[in-house]
Amino acid sequence: METSLDAGNVSMQRTKLTSPFDAYDPPTRRSRTRPRTLRTAAPLLAVALVAQLAACDRAGDPAATAPGPDDPALAAQGPLNPAIVAEGKSIFRFDTFGDETFWTDTLRMHEVIRTAVSPTTALSVGLKVDADALPAAVKAGILDGSIDLDSPATTVALLELDAVLGVVGEVDADDRLTRVGVTCALCHSTVDNSFAPGIGSRLDGWPNRDLNVGAIVALSPTPTAAQKAVYDSWGPGMYDPRFNIDGKNIPVVIPPAFGLRHVKRELYTGDDDVSYWNAYVAITQMHGHGRFVDERIGVDVSNPPDLVSSKLDALRAYQFSLRAPRPRPGTFDAAAAKRGRAVFDGAARCASCHLGGALTDVNANRLHSPAEVGQDPAYAQRSVTKLYRTTPLRGLWNPPQLRGPYFHDGHAGTLEEVVAHYVERLGVSLTPRQRADLVEYLKTL
Ligand code: HEC
Ligand code: HEC
Repeated sequence: METSLDAGNVSMQRTKLTSPFDAYDPPTRRSRTRPRTLRTAAPLLAVALVAQLAACDRAGDPAATAPGPDDPALAAQGPLNPAIVAEGKSIFRFDTFGDETFWTDTLRMHEVIRTAVSPTTALSVGLKVDADALPAAVKAGILDGSIDLDSPATTVALLELDAVLGVVGEVDADDRLTRVGVTCALCHSTVDNSFAPGIGSRLDGWPNRDLNVGAIVALSPTPTAAQKAVYDSWGPGMYDPRFNIDGKNIPVVIPPAFGLRHVKRELYTGDDDVSYWNAYVAITQMHGHGRFVDERIGVDVSNPPDLVSSKLDALRAYQFSLRAPRPRPGTFDAAAAKRGRAVFDGAARCASCHLGGALTDVNANRLHSPAEVGQDPAYAQRSVTKLYRTTPLRGLWNPPQLRGPYFHDGHAGTLEEVVAHYVERLGVSLTPRQRADLVEYLKTL
């Protein structure tokens, strides 16, 4: 049964606060005026605190960081403001929302990294290195072997260059890593491997399907053995953004953050809009500072001061600016893809749900019960809607970075298995040729 979404029930709260990150250097690097120590970070925190006090009408508002559902529609209209997009890019890549208090003070990841994580180890758990942040001498040293990729000190040097995607470090005068935190780019960006495997230009919005978040967190000395067992069970490209909330272990595939500008509701389960989820992840998963409350899923996390809400508009603008990659010629059979499109729209009935420009009926206010689409209900049960959103099909095939797995739990490893899912579970009847053509078409989306 398809199910209608009820109109948004999250109250609107749109005060634009002064961003303490206005000083950020938009293009690609963190501004070197950023605080290098906690001592110098004090003025920043003070600005944030003043901003929070100025917004005292937000106090006690249960949806302080959850904007109204009308916002994306408005934001999706008209051109994006380039200055705000640039600010959002900086936030996406480099803003930890103060989550060093978790990754450093609680997990002690700075100790783990500086003693045990060489670049080789970092690359092996899927971390990526931004080649454009490396000075020519460093590139040459990597190529001629004079830079030791088996030394944790090299990782610290890369962090000092802002070259490890999604990981932000503070390094003291003795080249010791003193603070470390994570950003959105950790899970939602990768590189084009133009310099070496795992080292290249940034691809923002692309999910990092090599990233083993669980293995990284399990390196910390602080989780219990039971928690580590859960983290170790996730594997590359998977993450459970609700484990620390409800204790269940049902990881999902890290999705792209591109191609969402004209998609009404986000998440596999269509819970809410982009900024709702950005605030959820920043505060409850990255452990950034702010307040996130959603009674619908029993979440109430308060970690003052608020370093998140003032950045959500810019962060959203940046995500909306990220388009899905175009398929690369040579990675699919164009003639078969053309035939496959007709199969998608016709015999296979895919377009009954994957409809419109974004290829999802969530824009027609429809979600689906797990049974209707043949998916495991367990993850949906933990969400606001308890249903699944028809995934907007984008960037399905762009190897090696994008090549599945597919569906929220990744149970289809290949596009052939996606088609087999629909044939077996939804009774779609297709000839072998139609199936093959359909797969080629999916590769072009
Ligand atoms: C530790 C990995 C991780 C980090 C860090 C992370 N995310 Fe995600 N993100 C996920 C996972 C997993 C999901 C899927 C959750 C779901 O749908 O239930 C997701 C979902 C999303 C979606 C929805 C995609 C869709 O198709 O609807 C967006 C947008 C997004 N994240 C943006 C961000 C932003 C912005 C940040 C930083 C504030 C961030 N994420 C930080 C793992 C991460
Ligand atoms: C009844 C509605 C419905 C129909 C019909 C349908 N889909 Fe889907 N599709 C969904 C939903 C809902 C999801 C999300 C399921 C999940 O993640 O567990 C999905 C997910 C997908 C995905 C995974 C995308 C990703 O990035 O993980 C692909 C690929 C896909 N569908 C292709 C197809 C094809 C091909 C057809 C036709 C054979 C089809 N769908 C028919 C509703 C539908």
